[in-house]
Parts: sequence; structure tokens; C-alpha cells
Amino acid sequence: MKTLTIIKPDDWHLHLREGVVLKNIIHFTSDYFGRAIVMPNTKAPITSIDKAIAYKKFISEALPKSSKFEPLMTIYLTDETDKGELINGFKNNVFFAAKLYPANATTNSSLGVKKIENLYEIFELMQESGMPLLIHGEVTDSEVDIFDREEVFIDRELQPIIKSFPKLKIVLEHITTSYAVDFVQENNIGATITPHHLHINRNAMFFGGLNSDFYCLPVAKRENNRLALRKAATSGKECFFLGTDSAPHLRKWKAFCGCAGIFNAPVAIESYLTVFEEENALDNFEKFASLNGPHFYNLSPNKEKLKLVSRSNKVVEFINVLEEKDIVGQIKPFHAGEILKWQVEGIFN
Ligand code: DOR
Ligand code: ZN
Repeated sequence: MKTLTIIKPDDWHLHLREGVVLKNIIHFTSDYFGRAIVMPNTKAPITSIDKAIAYKKFISEALPKSSKFEPLMTIYLTDETDKGELINGFKNNVFFAAKLYPANATTNSSLGVKKIENLYEIFELMQESGMPLLIHGEVTDSEVDIFDREEVFIDRELQPIIKSFPKLKIVLEHITTSYAVDFVQENNIGATITPHHLHINRNAMFFGGLNSDFYCLPVAKRENNRLALRKAATSGKECFFLGTDSAPHLRKWKAFCGCAGIFNAPVAIESYLTVFEEENALDNFEKFASLNGPHFYNLSPNKEKLKLVSRSNKVVEFINVLEEKDIVGQIKPFHAGEILKWQVEGIFN
């Protein structure tokens, strides 16, 4: 039996939701990850210091007892974001970073930014204070084909931001194209890569009829893009790091209205590891999962270790969402029903 031991990883892009869903799913991440950047696209988005403090409290209360997991909070940028609030929140360690959702780009983003140039004064302050800017990089212009939205965003919005703020710390989140892979490397910014974009291409959304299980935003693209992402993630290069974009949606909503988002937290580490093994790059897994992110964000890597073993690991079809002891919903995990070849053994010092 093969084993692999790495420094405990972090998840640099995660959706934890609220209420009963949060309570049911948080352990999938907090059991094996040291830290996670928590996305602020809750139903009422996290747009202020008070909201971030309250949300962090809910998260902390939902954590298993004695968990050492650290949620890193973000502010949701809007056209009305107050500069003082943003910088105070960053300087007082309430906000770890700011998240830019172009309005209507994805789940709960209707209050997102309508005109990015209106944020330039804020970017100036963020650049001065070293506050990271995390970007959902897609234009929302209905005339742009959905498969081209990342590339068009890079050309139309990201290039000018980088030109105007060359020292701003930017992460292009959940990249999906070879165009983004090249751009990130050429422009000295960071990028997260999800497990699902390493496994599926756009065909997955059409297997056996329209299949919302594999619908996320940005949508998976053509195969050549998936291959470029696999090469980037497994390269060990410092600019690419782990960000699951794990995004749970209750089955009833996913099946009914096809919400965007793939819930990969229960299998994220094993899912990534499968890709690294297939690419003969197990040696680079620790860099991607546990070292490149802390390096980008000027943090120390975690102290504990994570041990993985190669053994058959059947993924459940559904995860029940419980309230007291009643099942109030179900969420389908990524790789549902598949047998993965790796399994997390545990954390140790
Ligand atoms: O597929 C996605 N789901 N992409 C996002 O950007 C948001 C996420 C969610 O919150 O459901
Ligand atoms: Zn996300």
C-alpha cells in the first residue's frame, strides 16, 4: 500500500454557506485543512465588518469541538463599498481579502460590481496596504459566449487593472482556460484551480441529457483547457495553488433550477491527488496543496501533517443534511458513486 505524507493543506477558495447546511458540511473541510478563505456570497452578502464578524462567529460555532481550523474572511465588493470599512477591516484582521464578483456572474452575485472602474480608488488603497484582491474573472455581457467569458474578462478588465495597479496582490480564482494559465504566469499574479476543472471538460454537462451535477461557474471548457490546467496545477509552480470552490447546493434546488456549483469538499484532497498521480507528479502535490498558497499570502505553512494512503475509496451518492436527527435535504458530492484510489488516513503532528 502506497502512502503519502504532506504538510496539512489549506483551501484558498471555499463556500461554507450558512445555517443548517454550514453545520452539516463544515467538518469535511475543517477535519483536514488548516485554513480556508471563506467566500462572502452568502444570501445577504458579507459587505461590512459587522457582517464578517457575525459570519465568522457562526462558522466558529459550527466547527467540531477542539477544531483548530481557521476561517479567513472576505469582504464582498459592491459599487457602494466604503473605503474606510474595507481598509479598517483589513488592518484589524477582520478581512483577509476582498472578493470581486462582477454583478450577476454567479450564485448570489446580483449585488456585485457593475462597473469595475468605479473600484479603482479602492484598488489603490488595497495596493498600498497589501490587501489581496480575489477575482471571479468572467464578464457578464450577454453578447459574450459563456465559454469565452473568462478570456474576455482577462483582456477587457484584468489587463487594465494590472496595468494601473502593478503591485496589487491579485488572485484569479478557479481558472478554467489555457489562456488564463498563460496569463497568470506572465503577469505575476496567483490563481486557484479546482478539482472539478481538472477532471471534467464541458462534455460532462451533457452526459445522459442536461446534467446540472457538473454545472459550475466558470463552466468547464474544452478538453485542451482541462489539459493545460492539469499541467499547471501539477507543475509545482508557485503561482498555482489549491482552491476547491466547493459550493454545496441542496439537491432539490440543483435538480430544479440547475444552480451553479459543485460540492467537492468531501473528496477534494483525494480528487486532486488522483490527478497528480495520473500526471506522475505526486512529488509536487505538497507544493500545490500546502506550500504555494501560504507563500503567495506571506503566511507560514501549517505545522501538522496529513497522511494519505492508496486504497479503494467509494464515494457516497448523497450526503444527508440533518437538522436534529431529521433529514432536511441532500447534497450530491463530486465523484458520487465513483471509486477513488486514495483516502485520507488522518492528521498528525
Ligand atoms: O459554480 C460556482 N458556484 N461558482 C461560483 O463562483 C459560486 C459558487 C456558489 O456559490 O455556488
Ligand atoms: Zn467560488
